[in-house]
Amino acid sequence: MKVVASISQGLEKEGAQELIELGAHAVKASRRHILFEADMACLYRVHLRSRLSFRFLREICRFPCHGPHELYSRVQSEIDWENWLTPQKSFRVDVTGFGEGLSHTHFTALQVKNAIVDLQRERWGLRSRIDLNNPDICFHLHLASNQAFLSVDGSNSSLHKRGYRPAVGIAPIKENLAAGLMRMTGWDGTKNLVDPLCGSGTFLIEAVSILFGIPSGIHRQFLFKNWPDFDISLWDSELKIAKKLKNFDNKLPKIIGCEVDEKIANCAIQNIKDADLEDYIEIINSPFQEYQLPTGLGLLVCNPPYGKRIGDENLLPNLYKELGNYCKNQASGWDLWLLNGNPNLSKYLGMKANKRFQVNNGAIDCRWLNYQIK
Ligand SMILES: C[S@@+](CC[C@H](N)C(=O)[O-])C[C@H]1O[C@@H](n2cnc3c(N)ncnc32)[C@H](O)[C@@H]1O
Repeated sequence: MKVVASISQGLEKEGAQELIELGAHAVKASRRHILFEADMACLYRVHLRSRLSFRFLREICRFPCHGPHELYSRVQSEIDWENWLTPQKSFRVDVTGFGEGLSHTHFTALQVKNAIVDLQRERWGLRSRIDLNNPDICFHLHLASNQAFLSVDGSNSSLHKRGYRPAVGIAPIKENLAAGLMRMTGWDGTKNLVDPLCGSGTFLIEAVSILFGIPSGIHRQFLFKNWPDFDISLWDSELKIAKKLKNFDNKLPKIIGCEVDEKIANCAIQNIKDADLEDYIEIINSPFQEYQLPTGLGLLVCNPPYGKRIGDENLLPNLYKELGNYCKNQASGWDLWLLNGNPNLSKYLGMKANKRFQVNNGAIDCRWLNYQIK
């Protein structure tokens, strides 16, 4: 099967590597997407275990498309609808991209929907219900260069929602972005890990989950169970393997988050409990400036406020100066990894970045900066 993963800009290389580790073939990263080939077991596995991707789309057909009429008739003729969608099943159509006479995704989605339900009515005298929130099947149409790619989405909502984070602070980072950034640090559980501005604790939860091999989708419902070729014994075997993955027996170093805001610190504590990681991660409700780092070496990871969504930009230079001083005074020999969405602020750290990677945090163009603290 041909599959497309969607991913945050900047994580494509790391995401491709993760998919290869999970058994994907012919993996090709392009901007915000990764194309790959998978058998059914691999497709189930990436849904269960990938921590970096937003969603996986399985292509069911592709055809030339030069306008709304061709789209309508090809949707009817190119797919075996008796197999894919009986009138008893509800569905939704998502659209990305544009084509001739198809410049509004909402209009394009209606065109696909009409083609399907008109055909159903003709064939069965009945039609499927549209369910935007909780459909049985979710179709995805992508238009590019006069080609249409029709796929089915294996999950109803984005895979970054793990289920451990009903409680979020202000401007939380998405779980899959935090996972990708943590992978880029190379943290392997042998050194301390501290997030001095931890918010809802996402970096720490994702870091320990990666280390333990906790499957990201173990509590999710997947739409591929409604596909006509769903193979329950294959799925059960992937699920069984995934449940046995928790395999890290070494003693962990200190894994600590500092959060100045009491309410947000409590959110982080709750999230860590919901992720079943309270034996491994500690949250301290204090400004980082007052927190003494544990002995030994380690990594500091954080995304401090950068004024676009939270924080008064005029007060932030001081916060960055204090973070820089904290690193120099307390963390000699440690690494700092900092997600920065405002280049005017990182200079106040007073340190020179050793490595920098461009990543997008939602719509915000950011840099994942690595400092080796002298
Ligand atoms: C952008 S948020 C971090 C989001 C976090 N990565 C998450 O996943 O939720 C920055 C956090 O730093 C906290 N903060 C600001 N100044 C602080 C300080 N001096 N010490 C500790 N935390 C601080 C804020 O309350 C906020 O929760």
